[in-house]
Amino acid sequence: MSSTEKTYSIAILGATGLVGRTMLQVLDERDFPVREILPLASERSRGREIVFRGKSFRTDVPSAEVFSRADIALFSAGATASRTWASVAAEAGAVVIDNSSAFRMEPDVPLVVPEVNPEAIFDAHGKPKGIIANPNCSTIQMVVVLKPLHDRYRVRRVVVSTYQSVTGKGKQGRDALEDELAGKMPESFVHGHQIAFNAVPHIDVFLDNGYTKEEMKMVNETRKIMCDESLSVSPTTVRIPVYGGHGESLNIEFEDDFDVDELREMLAGTPGIIVQDDPSSSLYPMPLTSYEKDEVFVGRIRRDFWQPKTVNLWIVADNLRKGAATNAVQIAEKLVGKL
Ligand SMILES: NC(=O)c1ccc[n+]([C@@H]2O[C@H](COP(=O)([O-])OP(=O)(O)OC[C@H]3O[C@@H](n4cnc5c(N)ncnc54)[C@H](OP(=O)(O)O)[C@@H]3O)[C@@H](O)[C@H]2O)c1
Repeated sequence: MSSTEKTYSIAILGATGLVGRTMLQVLDERDFPVREILPLASERSRGREIVFRGKSFRTDVPSAEVFSRADIALFSAGATASRTWASVAAEAGAVVIDNSSAFRMEPDVPLVVPEVNPEAIFDAHGKPKGIIANPNCSTIQMVVVLKPLHDRYRVRRVVVSTYQSVTGKGKQGRDALEDELAGKMPESFVHGHQIAFNAVPHIDVFLDNGYTKEEMKMVNETRKIMCDESLSVSPTTVRIPVYGGHGESLNIEFEDDFDVDELREMLAGTPGIIVQDDPSSSLYPMPLTSYEKDEVFVGRIRRDFWQPKTVNLWIVADNLRKGAATNAVQIAEKLVGKL
């Protein structure tokens, strides 16, 4: 950051949470031109100290007055807080980048993954929209990989099964696993059932169609981001007792045929993707591979021999980073020089 560069006041709603703390770390690591941090959380955390680049800031509760001092407001405090505060912050003059599900499917709110649809951030006059939505973590890592494949071979259908980290459920999701591993069994399980030594095929609530809300987010958000309502996405989302990142097994059917080596090389040359794919040396990404990394990792790339024009692959990304904080900060980076 040069001394003449414009700097920005950044409000973080949810600054004491897993995603909020990761946002602070990512802003620092990526050398974001920050003038001031306005850390916000619930009444529980009022006054708590947050240190950023050696400076101490005190956590406050959200208000129109605080947001009037912010250029950009990064929200990660859940959908209820977003519904209460996003329009207040936008009206106070901040551009809101919201990690919750509150506005993702609103027609006039862009749903953005910077590697896929950065142009959606701005209106026809080049002005950023007041509220910009960050997609669900499972969707983000999948579309980063689907986009170059769709451009080259046209994706027709994706069957996806997820293996999602407990940190996807925030501090309480992480603490629940630690408590259970320490032998402390609660009266009611945070993940619905015991998560230690288990896998729970139930993330978010069930809908009338038999899918969970998490699964339908993957269907609807993918179509919106890729601007293709005809895309078939068939998901099963599963919580597993890991930290580090979410894994996804993808079976992708294309309209055009492909060469596996060419497909692997194309993914390896795509910004934001790291291919780790050498079965002879047991090289493939795992949740811990992606821990504290910003990229989406891809491995186990192989033709589906039982279905034409179809590939199988395995992808992993840190849900707190690319699945949340990094994606939000990348959107904020697109605003630099435009506010
Ligand atoms: N975890 C992930 O992988 C992930 C990925 C993508 C998106 N997200 C989304 O990001 C959001 C936060 O997730 P997280 O994992 O960071 O959760 P978390 O660890 O539980 O943190 C929640 C944060 O929100 C604050 N908060 C809660 N209710 C609030 C209220 N009424 N007013 C103001 N602040 C409030 C909490 O403050 P206190 O400390 O005061 O309680 C805390 O800072 C959620 O919307 C989630 O869906 C999470």
